[in-house]
Amino acid sequence: MLEKLAEIKSKAIDELSTLSDLRELEAWRVRYLGKKSELTQILRRLASLPLEERKAVSASANEIKAFFETSHRKNKESLKERTYRDLETTVKGEKDVTLPGRPIPLGRLHPTTQMLCKICDIFVALGFQVVEGPEVEWDYYNFEALNIPPDHPARDMFATFWIDAESGQRPMLLRTHTSPMQIRVMERTRPPVRVVVPGKVYRYEATDATHESMFYQIEGLAVDEHTTFSDLKGTLYEFAKRLFGEERRVRFRCDYFPFVEPGVEMAIDCMVCGGSGCRLCSGTGWIEILGAGMVHPDVLRRVDYDPEVYTGFAFGLGLERIPMLMYGIDDIRLFYSNDLRFLRQF
Ligand code: DAH
Repeated sequence: MLEKLAEIKSKAIDELSTLSDLRELEAWRVRYLGKKSELTQILRRLASLPLEERKAVSASANEIKAFFETSHRKNKESLKERTYRDLETTVKGEKDVTLPGRPIPLGRLHPTTQMLCKICDIFVALGFQVVEGPEVEWDYYNFEALNIPPDHPARDMFATFWIDAESGQRPMLLRTHTSPMQIRVMERTRPPVRVVVPGKVYRYEATDATHESMFYQIEGLAVDEHTTFSDLKGTLYEFAKRLFGEERRVRFRCDYFPFVEPGVEMAIDCMVCGGSGCRLCSGTGWIEILGAGMVHPDVLRRVDYDPEVYTGFAFGLGLERIPMLMYGIDDIRLFYSNDLRFLRQF
């Protein structure tokens, strides 16, 4: 019996090396592993053998069976590969033009980029231009020109990455917000100004579920003669409705930012509970979305805009927060850890 098994094995191996396509491989499988194959027959008859012989035969037969199974799997892979390769190099006349094209895997935009485009589109429709600015910024634009002088307590709001400077040089940093672009835009243009500025900002902070050391903001600025707080409210209300749905309500409350006066925070009524209070809005019924305000006269003076003639409003919002609220994402770190299982969902 053992001899018979050895014979089967060597015959099978010989045949295996001559197979040229998957059909032949399937026939081989039926021949050597199928119900009617000699091997299967032997395995079936094991019980009728005397104990000693049964042990030996069983060990050998099962080992051969496992070997056949692995060989089959390996050959299937390599024959498949060969088939594809052959298809690619098929000479004229053998080309099958009826085969469907092989799909090219398509990427997609990052969820942050998708949201950024959506928000910019809304403001473009409202008459704003999209501009971008540097991520490495002078202290002057990030703080000083925005009414935050060196010893101002508001600097504590912004944990800053400083760039090492040679002594005597002007201090540089990674911008902590997109607001410095307010100054850069006003320096190089005269009113009317209507811009939105999307971009990366940096904070020297420990990361956790709601904090990243790099995230995105979108800044807005509108300056003209007779621009009023009503314009601020109207524009941001319209924005909230277009982004979060027509039925949204908004709430403005006083807040403090050194470069605006008055300063406000805008909240929308909670889209989950509609205002009655739930986990998403921590029971308050409202969700804070952005900071805003009327551009401070000192900021206007600094860029040579006469605050008696021109007034304006500005706003700034954290981008990741919005898809987090909309899609119930509970950890901001997911955005920038490059996990395709997360990214593919958008
Ligand atoms: N730059 C502020 C921050 O990062 C957000 C902000 C608040 C921007 C009020 C504005 C504004 O333009 O008017 O916290």
